[in-house]
Amino acid sequence: MVDFVFFLKNVLVVSLAMNLCLIWRLSHHNEENIAFSWGNLQQKLNNFNTAGKNNTRGEEVDVAQVSKRTIEVLKTTSSAATNDPDGGESNLVINLDHGDPTMYENYWKQKGEETTVVTSSWQHISYFSDVKNVCWFLEPGLVRAVTRLHKVVGNAVTEGRHIVVGTGSSQLYQAALYALSPPDSLGPMNVVSAAPFYSSYPLMTDYLKSGLHKWAGDAYEFNKNEPYIELVTSPNNPDGVTRQDVVKGNNGILVYDLAYYWPQYTPIILPADYDIMLFTVSKSTGHAGTRIGWALVKDREIAKKMTTFIEINTIGVSKDSQIRAAKILQTVSDSCENANQKEPESFFDYSYKFMDERWKKIREAVNKTELFSLPDFSHETCSFSGRTFGQLPAFAWLKCEGEVDDCESFLRRHKIYTRGGKHFGASKKYVRISMLSRDSEFEILIKRLPAIIIS
Ligand SMILES: Cc1ncc(COP(=O)(O)O)c(C=O)c1O
Repeated sequence: MVDFVFFLKNVLVVSLAMNLCLIWRLSHHNEENIAFSWGNLQQKLNNFNTAGKNNTRGEEVDVAQVSKRTIEVLKTTSSAATNDPDGGESNLVINLDHGDPTMYENYWKQKGEETTVVTSSWQHISYFSDVKNVCWFLEPGLVRAVTRLHKVVGNAVTEGRHIVVGTGSSQLYQAALYALSPPDSLGPMNVVSAAPFYSSYPLMTDYLKSGLHKWAGDAYEFNKNEPYIELVTSPNNPDGVTRQDVVKGNNGILVYDLAYYWPQYTPIILPADYDIMLFTVSKSTGHAGTRIGWALVKDREIAKKMTTFIEINTIGVSKDSQIRAAKILQTVSDSCENANQKEPESFFDYSYKFMDERWKKIREAVNKTELFSLPDFSHETCSFSGRTFGQLPAFAWLKCEGEVDDCESFLRRHKIYTRGGKHFGASKKYVRISMLSRDSEFEILIKRLPAIIIS
């Protein structure tokens, strides 16, 4: 009996030790795993950074911009303190570096069922949408929605144009470069845009180190007697200015990025009538996550080559996304045609008032301090709304006045994350601040800016 109790005791002790060991191993293993995956991410980031530090022109190009910023978002979305009189607000980091367009969320919430798309598993199975179309993966419903909306708003000519759909206009940018860069030329095609230019252009142009095209920088400085593609972004990201081409050489092809040529951001003057025009739902309706853009292309051969690029790149574009985008665009057109009848205001009335309000608030905030300034815009009458107003850009192109030379670092010390001028080929005295965030972040911004003092 004593032997049996002794044996049982031993078994219990051994079992306890094994369990403790198991618990320790599990927790330790998890820690290692977390450390490993985080280390991996950091390692990747470091590799990215060193790989991207020096481009062919010896300039600093932050290839890891997206990855690095993703990590920063992970690190900064929570409040550090809760005991402050302002509920910890002064400790909150606000990340206005990216242009994530969440600002129209409330509008879309109140639309409810009207924009809901239901899809059964047997639908949209095929790669093909319309084999008779140059862009064979383009959904006919999206063609109707895009054509109707441009007609309703009057911001682009669609007659005599081929529509090419892309996974965001980012894919269409790359498709356009592919289509416009001759494969048999002696050197890569120069790609330029007037500074300050959209910070993704250099990255998207060069990240695959293509032999077809290369980023050639600020269009104002381009003086080579060589073929080039000029990106004309109007209104411009980051500064909101209405743009025209600047190189005006004989060997140039123009691509118009009209992501912001919508009546909440700028007065619509004329329907844009260029050979290649890029649009996106990301900034027009705020549905960046749907990843749908479209190109209006005059030349059939160019439209075909752009289609080929997308065919090779992703074998088409998500049908579910196209159908969702079509529904959203049709709802916007309906809201314009029903305004003052069935609906109190159209989507563009809502979004115009929203942007106008934000710009009034940020200008008020900036006017309270000598430290910063914002660009002014002349007023014009919008052919769509009949309103006379100056640009209401999706980004504030803020300048640090006086002694502050690095505005991005300066604001970062005040827990406001922005994108510095150097990313746009401009001075570090400028930063781009997103005006497209949710109210909570925007309200902190306009409280914090005038309270900043140089210490
Ligand atoms: C000028 C410009 N073009 C293109 C894009 C990319 O749009 P998408 O989300 O459709 O890829 C953006 C997004 O910020 C932009 O500002």
